[in-house]
Amino acid sequence: MCGIVGYIGKRQAYPVLIGGLHRLEYRGYDSAGVALLSDSDRLNVYKAKGKVSELEAVAEEKDCSGTVGIAHTRWATHGGPSTVNAHPHVSESGNLTLVHNGIIENYAVLRDQLKQRGYHFQSETDTEVLVQLIEYVQTSLGLSLEDAVQAALKRVIGAYAIVVLDRRFPDLLVAARKSSPMVVGIGEAEYFIASDASPIAEYTKQMVYLKDEEVVVCERGRELRVYNLSGENVPVEVKNVELDLTMLDKGGFPHFMLKEIFDQPSVLQDCMRGRVLPEHGRVILSAVTEHRERLCQARRIVIVSCGTSWHAGLIGKQLLEHFCKIPVEVEYASEFRYREPVILPDDVVMAISQSGETADTLAAISLAREAGAFVFGVVNAVGSSIARNTDTGTYIHVGPEIGVASTKAFTGQVCVLTMLALALGEARGTVDAGEYKAVLNELQQIPGKIERILAQNDRIETLSKIFTYAHNFLYLGRGWNYPVALEGALKLKEISYIHAEGYPAAEMKHGPIALIDQEMPVVFIATHHQLHEKIISNMQEVRSRNGRIIAIITEGDEVVKQMVSEYIEVPDTLACLAPLLSVIPLQLLAYHIAVQKGLNVDQPRNLAKSVTVE
Ligand code: AGP
Ligand code: GLU
Repeated sequence: MCGIVGYIGKRQAYPVLIGGLHRLEYRGYDSAGVALLSDSDRLNVYKAKGKVSELEAVAEEKDCSGTVGIAHTRWATHGGPSTVNAHPHVSESGNLTLVHNGIIENYAVLRDQLKQRGYHFQSETDTEVLVQLIEYVQTSLGLSLEDAVQAALKRVIGAYAIVVLDRRFPDLLVAARKSSPMVVGIGEAEYFIASDASPIAEYTKQMVYLKDEEVVVCERGRELRVYNLSGENVPVEVKNVELDLTMLDKGGFPHFMLKEIFDQPSVLQDCMRGRVLPEHGRVILSAVTEHRERLCQARRIVIVSCGTSWHAGLIGKQLLEHFCKIPVEVEYASEFRYREPVILPDDVVMAISQSGETADTLAAISLAREAGAFVFGVVNAVGSSIARNTDTGTYIHVGPEIGVASTKAFTGQVCVLTMLALALGEARGTVDAGEYKAVLNELQQIPGKIERILAQNDRIETLSKIFTYAHNFLYLGRGWNYPVALEGALKLKEISYIHAEGYPAAEMKHGPIALIDQEMPVVFIATHHQLHEKIISNMQEVRSRNGRIIAIITEGDEVVKQMVSEYIEVPDTLACLAPLLSVIPLQLLAYHIAVQKGLNVDQPRNLAKSVTVE
């Protein structure tokens, strides 16, 4: 969940580490810390509760020299956010220091055993057990640092990405991972270690993605060495990774979330580039071309995902059933992995994930693979764990998403699912040629139409002021727009802390209608598509109970305009593409309400960008 950075080389480590933590701060931000082996061979550890800037304030007056160091930005799992619980943690003797991402499930047993051997614990974290255990193994068995790390990790149950520094070996950093991502960048006589490529990309393109239960030794003046937990040498696989660094900056916007909302027209074009081919009138996805037979023969598709990606999955179900005539189930990955799902070898299990690191989605994939299903990934983060653990897949290519509230990844996922449904529908012969052409043409118009919605940003900001102090919100939509209602409600609660529920509009009468009064804003996603008349009736029902309506309508829908005082117009489009447009004003509405409330839009409380722990 958290962010890790390590550096060893010829530069001063501190600026590399702090810059890296800023890039990774979206992953966790309740506390931060850094450990440096100073030019005078002292191990200096600085920590602070809060953001990376708090850490900088603490370190400002201190000795930040040294060409080797490790750093961490935390998202607490064991022990509240505090300076003492912040990483790096230091061993009993003061020789070892370590940063960790993940959860050590058997930490309580290990801690008791180590206490009996005279080890003292300062923090409430599970992590501290690791640094003590490595030291215990190292001293009691007389092992080298890398062997001690291997031996200690064999006793650990759980998930980890760790980097260890031993002050007696200033030329060495040892790192390892299991179920938590870790990448090593190779520079010129220097190594960079991080939980994803973003803090490294400005220094090198040469990256090594560690696999589960691998230990990497980064030693000055020596080639990179990778071992498994049995101590066997593993070949080092260096990848050339290109990241667009301008995508990692706010580009003049006050928040990443707003930038990412405004990115959507261009990144959806990136998403379709080379795949939607107007000159041939076709959608070509390499995953479908290469695995045509296997995908066409799927008896069922099971989509596994979490949060916003699950909402995209609900739209994917409608698209795939409509165009491919394959039954589709959409499951929360966290539920799927712990029941006994019936997975058949001719199933296709589709994992949708922005980060490609969500622990529950990864576990659901493992289950599917064990059962012999074919696994397809719809992922944003290139080279991420999910991308590497699937049989095939399609990247959404919308660039790094930094704001915790997912925006461009959602529209990217829906765009990929639309292309996939068209390509697979064509391969299976289940899609009507006229409809295929119409959807293909209209899909290309979507970026331009999103621009028209974004042009209403000021209006939506004004509208948001009326609703900033509401305590509850209801979001209602039907058919294609039902998942959009869920997504709109999720966006609002994540960043504005206002309670919001999304419902299929027709379900209102089965319960939520009891909540409606003049205090309850109701957002109707009421574009001019199927069931429009029925949703108008639902609006009347809210009106007659004095509910306050905000309607998302198709441009020029005079009927709804007469009925409600607050509305936002979106351009007309085909029903199956409606979510790509109707979600945009809901993203902006949530954003402006949170800004009005003075909240931290990009890093809302309690949340982290990638949920790499259960
Ligand atoms: C979205 O705004 C959320 N922050 C969250 O629900 C997210 O979509 C979920 O954690 C899944 O993440 P993933 O797409 O990276 O797997
Ligand atoms: N479990 C560790 C802790 O609570 C690491 C959490 C993280 O990944 O940030 O400190």
